[in-house]
Amino acid sequence: MSAVQLDLNNIPKHIAIIMDGNGRWAKSNGKARIYGHHAGVEAVRKVVETCTELGVQYLTLYAFSTENWKRPEAEVNALMELLVRTIRKETPELDKNNVRIGMIGDGHSLPKACIDELEEAKKMTSANTGLNLILALSYSGRWEITHAVQQIAQKVQSGELNPADISEKTISAYLNTSAIPDPELLIRTSGEYRLSNFLLWQSAYTEYYFTETLWPDFDKNELVKALLDYQKRERRFGKTTEQIKVR
Ligand code: IPE
Ligand code: IPE
Ligand code: MG
Repeated sequence: MSAVQLDLNNIPKHIAIIMDGNGRWAKSNGKARIYGHHAGVEAVRKVVETCTELGVQYLTLYAFSTENWKRPEAEVNALMELLVRTIRKETPELDKNNVRIGMIGDGHSLPKACIDELEEAKKMTSANTGLNLILALSYSGRWEITHAVQQIAQKVQSGELNPADISEKTISAYLNTSAIPDPELLIRTSGEYRLSNFLLWQSAYTEYYFTETLWPDFDKNELVKALLDYQKRERRFGKTTEQIKVR
């Protein structure tokens, strides 16, 4: 599978990935789950590199969900430590490659070391104009929508907003992703066919791509495969094929 076959005029602006299967990958190698998360970081590096090469503008990675707080404390702590260390280690290289780091999710619920490291990384890379790498941390679509509804309700209560003026645009503007276009392509690894509360509002018209490959085995070839599949699809947005063809 080669990138040569790709239509470079039809690369999604925004790719979102549910990076799943680290635990099973570790188990199949006879190792502890955290070993799989470490291996998962390598896959992130490869995918970021490929997205940069292809000119993808936004890459959103589901790294830790609201529901993941229910995992054993030792795993949660290990994941948070891995996050801090990875951001610290990788940010200078990402910065060199013109990558801009961002985050969506309930930042307040993260440990202080994580918040500090993320803030530092965001600051360091804020002027970059290449790939926007967005980490979804302590994120869930329902949390995000609930939070947006609370803020909109406050505006209504204070008289700044008329309920009749609430449109889809208003709701989008109150989401964490207000400055980010909806993803054209959403990838989930490890053979699970569900959204697990990821980008519920934003993925209304997203193309889904599922693969059996476990996240630590996901690499450039796997991403190219997903993109080739995406490029075969006709995005109709409710219209007919005939309408799409006449442009
Ligand atoms: C995804 O891998 C990483 C996170 C959710 C943090 P998992 O840890 O869910 O791996 P599996 O699904 O147990 O194999
Ligand atoms: C989804 O994976 C969240 C992340 C990849 C961060 P999970 O492994 O937590 O999803 P479920 O619980 O199997 O749906
Ligand atoms: Mg999983």
